[in-house]
Amino acid sequence: MTVPVSLRGVQIYQGLLTPEVQANLVEDLRACARQAPFFTPVTASGKAMSVRLTSAGRMGWVSDRRGYRYERRHPSGAVWPAIPETVLGLWRDLVSRDRDPDCCLINYYGEGTRMGLHQDRDEADFHWPVLSISLGDEGLFRVGNTTRGGKTDSVWLRSGDVLLMGGEARLVYHGVDRIRFGSSRLLPQGGRINLTCRVVT
Ligand code: SIN
Ligand code: MN
Repeated sequence: MTVPVSLRGVQIYQGLLTPEVQANLVEDLRACARQAPFFTPVTASGKAMSVRLTSAGRMGWVSDRRGYRYERRHPSGAVWPAIPETVLGLWRDLVSRDRDPDCCLINYYGEGTRMGLHQDRDEADFHWPVLSISLGDEGLFRVGNTTRGGKTDSVWLRSGDVLLMGGEARLVYHGVDRIRFGSSRLLPQGGRINLTCRVVT
């Protein structure tokens, strides 16, 4: 088993997924996106986020003029697709066999997109870690502290990297400053996909 490296308590399993597993996962995600298409979320202040996203699982993460929240259905009214087995397998190996995640958020980063520093705190129970999988182009991931501000450190996440934000690092501020568009050939159109699995309730 790959030994994780730690960045401010975030455990990063570099190169955990083989190219074959990554390619199969992309196929699974295409099926998810047919059922629950990617959409551009809008913040409560009306600003469009630069990433596009969708979800799999019992609940999905949405944001619109009413704010951020988990919902039982995609904005179209469709039920969210099931979380792909590969993803559940990773969760069971790295996190727990006692319960599966409720939500697998699927973010797509096209050219020039980023995600500002934020905490993942819309879940009810922070004892469960967030498991994150990177696919496609490299992304510069920044990790700060559990309060806003202060020093930060960054690492390039590559396709097949898997990380856990748990324990002391469950509520660290994190974000993606930029991607190296076209650095991977996994996605024919380029870009980066990030999956984050969360226990919500
Ligand atoms: C997120 O925090 O939702 C995404 C992190 C990432 O894209 O690596
Ligand atoms: Mn996050």
